[in-house]
Amino acid sequence: MKALVTGGAGFIGSHLVERLLEAGHEVQVVDNLSTGARRNLAHLEEDHRLQVTVESILDQAYMDEAIKQADLVFHLAAAVGVEWVLQHPLGSLETNLRGTDIVLAAADRHKRPVLIASTSEVYGKNDGGPLREDDDRILGSGQVTRWLYATAKAADEALALAYWQEHQLPTIVLRFFNTIGPRQTGRYGMVVPRLVGQALANEPLTVYGDGKQTRCFTYVRDVVKSVMSLAECGSAWGQVFNIGRDQEITIDDLARRIVELTGSCSAIIHVPYQDAYGPGFEDMRRRVPDVSKLRRCIGYAPDTDLDEALRQVIASHPAGVAGIAS
Ligand SMILES: NC(=O)c1ccc[n+]([C@@H]2O[C@H](COP(=O)([O-])OP(=O)(O)OC[C@H]3O[C@@H](n4cnc5c(N)ncnc54)[C@H](O)[C@@H]3O)[C@@H](O)[C@H]2O)c1
Repeated sequence: MKALVTGGAGFIGSHLVERLLEAGHEVQVVDNLSTGARRNLAHLEEDHRLQVTVESILDQAYMDEAIKQADLVFHLAAAVGVEWVLQHPLGSLETNLRGTDIVLAAADRHKRPVLIASTSEVYGKNDGGPLREDDDRILGSGQVTRWLYATAKAADEALALAYWQEHQLPTIVLRFFNTIGPRQTGRYGMVVPRLVGQALANEPLTVYGDGKQTRCFTYVRDVVKSVMSLAECGSAWGQVFNIGRDQEITIDDLARRIVELTGSCSAIIHVPYQDAYGPGFEDMRRRVPDVSKLRRCIGYAPDTDLDEALRQVIASHPAGVAGIAS
């Protein structure tokens, strides 16, 4: 099979590419390297089955041809990260709305199945839980830039499902919850790499808000394993899947765990959301996936617990190679 991976030089994309190659497939990557990097694929460069093209998914003619050449499309390219989206609202909307439209329209023309990356952010302020795929989305005001990413991703989901309903284009929506692992950068607001970097530098770990908000973190290898299994599961087409682990942790406890595992002498401090992201920023208190649908469909059982995932992140950090507390 020849797989096209948009955003394949990014964090999750590069792990997916690795796994597709391991499974014996040919892989074409399209990435504009805005938040991704060539070095994420450097260890795979010798593999002749991998082709990397630095191009934007907004180039319609290029995407049409690339999708025509592929058997299956994994659409992961997106403007990602709270900080990145707040700083580039217009470009983020263009990539996440128009980019997905271009990918799905080309896939429809050539009848190529597509798995598209969405996000737990689409649940917005719904902090009940565990969240099921058909639960309500509770979004804040349309004037709060923070919800722009969720709004665009929800529109992407709707588009993918409409193509399935009206044109029988096989699509699957992958609703990723917080994913962590080597090669994730902390530069655009991702909490784990940011806190790990601070701990390894023995700087204070900056926890935004009161630190009592909870999240669930999943190791990237478990995530890409699920994505691959869904692509092979005939009954998954036309559906939405939560992809994550349902073990919940407060950000305060996460920060403490990172301090312990790195053997750091850093303090943990709280920074008001307003100071981190500007006035009017809103966050959700809790975000836990119900993964029973994923379990039923592919027998999902993640292999890696949070401590092991954190150890991998620490070990892969340039400053973390020195040693990890057990
Ligand atoms: N990491 C997470 O916890 C998480 C959670 C929910 C959803 N997601 C989704 O998963 C996908 C992958 O995210 P990630 O965490 O690997 O982020 P990432 O930033 O590492 O990957 C996104 C990739 O898309 C590329 N890209 C951006 N705009 C592009 C364009 N116009 N043309 C071509 N390439 C472009 C970037 O260069 C980058 O390599 C995204 O769709 C994201 O919304 C991620």
